[in-house]
Amino acid sequence: MVQELRFDNQTVVVTGAGGGLGKAYAIFFASRGANVVVNDLGGSFKGEGAGTKAADIVVDEIKAAGGKAVANYDSVEHGDKIIKTAIDSFGRIDVLLNNAGILRDISFKNMKDADWDLINTVHVKGAYKCARAAWPYFRKQKYGRVINTASAAGLFGSFGQCNYSAAKLAQVGFTETLAKEGAKYNIICNVIAPIAASRMTETVMPPDVLANLKPDWVVPLVAVLVHPSNTHTSGSIFEVGGGHIAKLRWERAKGLLLKADETYTPGAILKKWDKVNDFSEPEYPNGVADFVTKAEESMKLPPNEQGEDIRFDGKVVLV
Ligand code: NAI
Repeated sequence: MVQELRFDNQTVVVTGAGGGLGKAYAIFFASRGANVVVNDLGGSFKGEGAGTKAADIVVDEIKAAGGKAVANYDSVEHGDKIIKTAIDSFGRIDVLLNNAGILRDISFKNMKDADWDLINTVHVKGAYKCARAAWPYFRKQKYGRVINTASAAGLFGSFGQCNYSAAKLAQVGFTETLAKEGAKYNIICNVIAPIAASRMTETVMPPDVLANLKPDWVVPLVAVLVHPSNTHTSGSIFEVGGGHIAKLRWERAKGLLLKADETYTPGAILKKWDKVNDFSEPEYPNGVADFVTKAEESMKLPPNEQGEDIRFDGKVVLV
């Protein structure tokens, strides 16, 4: 018989669970036996206003289906209050899904400090505050699972979203470090760049495309990553949506190694510029440790050749 991936006796905190992806997570995890904290501030997708209705509707739906859930209406900026709801209601926290988010799209030229600050407060400080409050419980029980939410906008940039892009790529660095610090305590942290139909995307994508991007189709990957059976996949980035699931990683060109002495000039780099950009023998770094080895190798090299009449992007440059 095929067995379900279950989360019985676990407490899952889902931020921004009043709609979109968060709602899909909350309903799924409750249906698989978890106690769910349904957090939602209940404001607009631009971060205006607040209310209890969004979270309450999801809690009611979970309870009507026989599941266990409580609502929390705090902003993720006050993550400690959200985690307190989990502890007060269910006595523990096992899984944190940092999902809450808003948009303040505007060209960089017209960006106001308020647009920058609010996006960073909700996405970066919000994820930090929730994880920071959960961390002592995770460490003590030697168990914790975290998902942070990035975006293609963060990984690749996106016109009119420099505030959001910066906040979303911050999730990657944040996750990588939590994964490293959590490893000893069986705390597994991963980051997803999802794509799904929600109020965030309904104005920017056509209905036929949105029909193929149900939030429910992001949920199974998240379930796999936060299940107790995942003991090794941590610090990873996944693209997920519309049935597509793929891991992303950094790729580095083999690169150019020069002797670091007085012959290490702009001209010496330009002479071998192609090597800097040559991905034919790629490396996949996950830390800076090999820089030490490279620096040692550099010292053993002969002096660098200097360029004459060097061309850079088609133009002759001085060296
Ligand atoms: P959504 O707007 O449907 O859901 C976000 C929820 O977060 C809302 O219910 C909102 O009330 C809540 N929220 C906003 N600020 C909050 C705060 N300060 N504290 C607590 N709750 C708050 O959007 P969607 O699409 O479900 O987005 C979920 C996450 O996925 C976000 O982090 C978003 O940036 C990210 N994302 C979504 C993509 C998509 O294609 N839908 C693409 C890439 C990333």
